[in-house]
Amino acid sequence: MTGLTARVPAKLNLQLAVGPPRADGYHDLVTVFHAVSLFDEVTVTAAARDAVTVTGEGADRVPAGRDNLALRAVTALRAAARRAGAGAAAGGVQVTIRKRIPVAAGLAGGSADAAAAMVACNELWGAGLPLPRLVQVAATVGSDVAFALLGGTAVGRGRGERITPALAPATAYHWVLAFADGQLPTPEVYAALDRLRAARADGPASPARPELDPSLMSALRAGDARLVGRALSNDLQEAAMSLRPSLRKTVAAGLELGAVGAVVAGSGPTCAFLAANAERALDLAVSLSGAGVCRSVARVTGPVPGALLIRGEDRPGPPAAPLRSPP
Ligand code: C5P
Repeated sequence: MTGLTARVPAKLNLQLAVGPPRADGYHDLVTVFHAVSLFDEVTVTAAARDAVTVTGEGADRVPAGRDNLALRAVTALRAAARRAGAGAAAGGVQVTIRKRIPVAAGLAGGSADAAAAMVACNELWGAGLPLPRLVQVAATVGSDVAFALLGGTAVGRGRGERITPALAPATAYHWVLAFADGQLPTPEVYAALDRLRAARADGPASPARPELDPSLMSALRAGDARLVGRALSNDLQEAAMSLRPSLRKTVAAGLELGAVGAVVAGSGPTCAFLAANAERALDLAVSLSGAGVCRSVARVTGPVPGALLIRGEDRPGPPAAPLRSPP
């Protein structure tokens, strides 16, 4: 039996506003997710029991057992399919992940793989769960998984799992990603933010409720890269830089070399630079890679769709379910 393959993008956060820690250890946040054209591919094949194989960029650092997020997504989807009476064929699966999204780099690669595994298994099992149901299941798997199903540009609330697509014109933004050596584990960056806030003498220990930035939203509505660049913000940036001081140099270099905006991707250590257009992005990528401030660079565009089945090389098929807004 041949497998089914889904392709899924990395994400950036154009805004990441983080509130105080909650009782469950998570932080309430308001974020603007933005899916970019750096893709992992996930193939699922019927098998006697669930297993995962990972190849490509940073594969040795992805957990291969039960802790693997894609396997956890498969388990959650199987339970949902069975509850819906659509899980007669929901047997074991071999999940094969081909990574191009660096691991623990702030780009939600693990969440992306989980979303792709869900889309592919939904099809493999003929479960036919609609997208809003997939989004609900995704939210139980990880904070960023629901967005990876939807893609585009969208506002995330709660711990990031409550998604509303952002209304914006079809502008293509041109980004340069600067990849760093090594990783920054997300929980450590959130913990560093809590410590920094607690130690701040000049303000309250608890930050205010996170709010959506109106200047970013109006920049997106205008489709103006310069305005978007100016409005990029990330509350985790300072925390990531406290753990990895070299990121300050990377961000400063990108701005000096002509980026119209710069932001650490999620919890880092990847840095994302917005360019005014495709040509500027190429110039920036070339000069940044020569500046010695990162491991490597990639040019990407956004927004792009979320997890999609692919039927041949780089030929996205229809999504496993009609694209509708989540509940
Ligand atoms: O949900 P996910 O497994 O992606 O989250 C990874 C970790 O990031 C959590 O265990 C938590 O430490 C931190 N986190 C958080 N608040 C969020 C999202 C993630 O504190 N809203």
